[in-house]
Amino acid sequence: LAVGPLAGRRVLVTSGPTHEPIDPVRYIANRSSGAQGTALAAALRDLGASVVFVTGPATVPPPAGVKVVQVETAAQMMAAVSAALPVEAAVFAAAVADWRVANAASVKVKKGAGGLSLDFAENPDILATVSRLDTGRPRLVVGFAAETDQVIAHATAKRARKGCDWIVANDVSPATGIMGGTENAVTLITADGTEDWPRMPKAEVARRLAQRIAEALA
Ligand code: C5P
Repeated sequence: LAVGPLAGRRVLVTSGPTHEPIDPVRYIANRSSGAQGTALAAALRDLGASVVFVTGPATVPPPAGVKVVQVETAAQMMAAVSAALPVEAAVFAAAVADWRVANAASVKVKKGAGGLSLDFAENPDILATVSRLDTGRPRLVVGFAAETDQVIAHATAKRARKGCDWIVANDVSPATGIMGGTENAVTLITADGTEDWPRMPKAEVARRLAQRIAEALA
């Protein structure tokens, strides 16, 4: 039986990249490792939550003691998230591909006929979709904003545009070593304003965020 401030509470975490197929053997991806989302799921579990962990093909293994739903594409992640609802809190840490290949081939594309042209279609915005649900919206919806410039301005605008309650903003410029690294330096943006957290291990960011989520749901 779970104990802790989140005992009996169902929460959702998305994590990792998505892979968007070009053909049966090739895909477009991004550099997300899934480290921060995995740490968050573990921290929420440690506070007693019943965690549904919807993950793309991450490089770090999923945590033990959570319900793992493995997906590949953004469309599959959207479907898995919808199926996981209702939850009391949802944290969207996945680096979802903004586009999918609209003209993906059903057989392997052969070279020799010159170049290759791909058409892109926009993927569903999972965070915005869940944030704007009329019925069944989680009480707390948390998004991430990975930015390389004007971090606070872009993340504040993102919070309003997506309709989520909190945004966890971070600077993923290559020089920071954050994307794929073990540390993170985040700013938490809520209706009450912005809070800069010092640089710390992703596991510690996760513990603090899980604690804040527990307080918000209490
Ligand atoms: O717009 P952007 O991708 O920067 O927003 C980042 C936030 O939105 C993250 O919380 C990410 O998990 C979420 N997101 C999503 N579905 C998308 C794109 C982003 O849930 N298609």
